[in-house]
Amino acid sequence: SNNTPKGIVIEKQGIFSSGGTVTAQGGVHAAGIGSGNASEWSSVTITGGTVEAIDPVRYICNRSSGKMGYEIARAAKNAGADVILISGNATAEPPTDIKFVKVKTALEMREAVWAEFDSADAVIMAAAVSDYRVKNVAAQKIKKTYATLSLELVKNPDILKDISSSRGNSDTLIVGFCAESENLLDNAIKKIQSKGCDFIIANDISRQDIGFNSDENEVYIIEKNLGIKKLEKNTKDKISEQILEEIFE
Ligand code: CTP
Repeated sequence: SNNTPKGIVIEKQGIFSSGGTVTAQGGVHAAGIGSGNASEWSSVTITGGTVEAIDPVRYICNRSSGKMGYEIARAAKNAGADVILISGNATAEPPTDIKFVKVKTALEMREAVWAEFDSADAVIMAAAVSDYRVKNVAAQKIKKTYATLSLELVKNPDILKDISSSRGNSDTLIVGFCAESENLLDNAIKKIQSKGCDFIIANDISRQDIGFNSDENEVYIIEKNLGIKKLEKNTKDKISEQILEEIFE
């Protein structure tokens, strides 16, 4: 199909339950788990939140658990992929058997993504990137000298947008996430159009039972042609398998 990078198909039927077999188009069997063969496809997953320094002891951060990205990386590995996981600050335990690149700031995250994205078949951008960073990071700990204090912030680069617009003619499939507290689908549609990625996975963060810091999620997958599919509430590992199946369909 059109979404298939380099002729790779992930079979819909039970690839994960059967131990993760990826089948190349034309029926040639590719590497499954533990087969010892080289991986047939590669993916880069980016997760966690960025950390932006204010002074040597304070920073701006967010509540990202990293779970969704970790589960996607695991699911991709189970489906035979060669996986790189780039992670900012995250409260969940990262997988230990996946190549792991730890980053702090949005600028560092961009560097790490930039180094890997072009050679990957799929890039899944699940990170909570700080939209802003402190313009002038104080070299010394800020004293409480004044009654009020303002921090001047400057915009961070939009990593998802930048990689989507610079992939040229490569087959790299790019998936973004979008976290919204209102008008979920409207905002998701606007976002896929402005970012230029192939898919957006839309998350409703106003709900306590799913998404941020939860083990479960319920998402909508929005395609570039604006097709929408709902993935019913499920554990993040199952949602991850379904997302991979959908994007490679
Ligand atoms: N993203 C990114 N770089 C940024 C901000 C966001 O790559 N500087 C990515 C996120 O990882 C996610 C997607 O863009 O895959 C959407 O993130 P989201 O926070 O929903 O949207 P924003 O682009 O930050 O827009 P806004 O805050 O205005 O809703």
